[in-house]
Amino acid sequence: MRMPLFRGMKRWGVLLPVLLLSSLLLAACGENSPSILNPAGPVALKESNLFWFILVVATIVFVVVEGLLLYSIVRFRERPNSTQPTQIHGNTTVEIIWTIVPSIFLFVVLVGTIYTMFGLTSFSSTGRPLQVRVVGHQWWWEFDYLNENFVTADEMHIPVGTRVEAQLQSNNVIHSFWVPELFGKTDVIPGHNNMSVFQADRIGEYRAQCTEFCGLQHAHMNFYVVVQSQDDYNAWVTSQQQAAASNPAGQAALAGRTLFVGSGGCQGCHGIVGVNLQDYHHLKGGSDASILVGPNLTHFGSRRQIAGGVLPWDPASCVVVTGSDGQPKIENPGSCGLYQWLKDPQAVKPGNDMNIRPLSDTEIAQLIAYLESLT
Ligand code: CUA
Repeated sequence: MRMPLFRGMKRWGVLLPVLLLSSLLLAACGENSPSILNPAGPVALKESNLFWFILVVATIVFVVVEGLLLYSIVRFRERPNSTQPTQIHGNTTVEIIWTIVPSIFLFVVLVGTIYTMFGLTSFSSTGRPLQVRVVGHQWWWEFDYLNENFVTADEMHIPVGTRVEAQLQSNNVIHSFWVPELFGKTDVIPGHNNMSVFQADRIGEYRAQCTEFCGLQHAHMNFYVVVQSQDDYNAWVTSQQQAAASNPAGQAALAGRTLFVGSGGCQGCHGIVGVNLQDYHHLKGGSDASILVGPNLTHFGSRRQIAGGVLPWDPASCVVVTGSDGQPKIENPGSCGLYQWLKDPQAVKPGNDMNIRPLSDTEIAQLIAYLESLT
């Protein structure tokens, strides 16, 4: 009797192209996605080196084990008139070998992992470390520049080649702080402040994402890390430290400012330095600004995302014009993310904290004109 060794060949002929095609399709999903295998700083580099190291060890194990398996299948297959082979069940020597050999491989991986873990935060940097308090909210990120004295959201700027110490805090649920090209994941836990230390060695923008399920809009909790030259970073810091202009240019923007502090109801949740905040950390009148639930908007006009990355923010697609009734309106509301947000924030991001009264198109245009002026 012949063993049907090649009976499955036809099936593989179909299965293999299907697998290859589907992997091509899935690979397309990764376009523009940040990869841990494209490290832009020393922490990510050490982590990706560990990945490659483990991959090499795993590949050696795979090739040797599968090679022996295939060799045995072919070499010792049943032939006509073959006799019963020697049975080795319960062979102590063999069992000791296949216990010790995998243990050695696992130990090698363990040593590599521990070596990487303890070496992650030791890298050389220039200048003094940048300390940023990173607060995970439901669902957006707040960045509090402790020594520079300003607060921003959805966008973290850092100078290239500088050690960053991110103090991770949450007052709600567990989030996780992750910039794949810069460092691995660290949980942001209420009542237990964690720290993430990293550095970026390449100027650029790095997409980041909350990576711990934190409620309905967990997937919509991303941000950007903008890595700049020291000079560009210093200029950005100086601009962020300025208070907002007390009288924005233009009738529409002025009306928007009036709405912000008045019937729009915005200032109950959002802060603008020079308007309802005396500085980034204090409401006008002296109390703590951290009771505000929404992002600080002092320099909203210079950011590029709205509401944890749900919508892009580009003033060029939100042009305020004067309508036939003499009132301001948005030229093309369909392409203006901020218009959609102010029209119905709950439709854009269900469950978020922004519960506002319905705003008219004129009011929305006025608010957008004002927010655009906050560069
Ligand atoms: Cu925050 Cu997921």
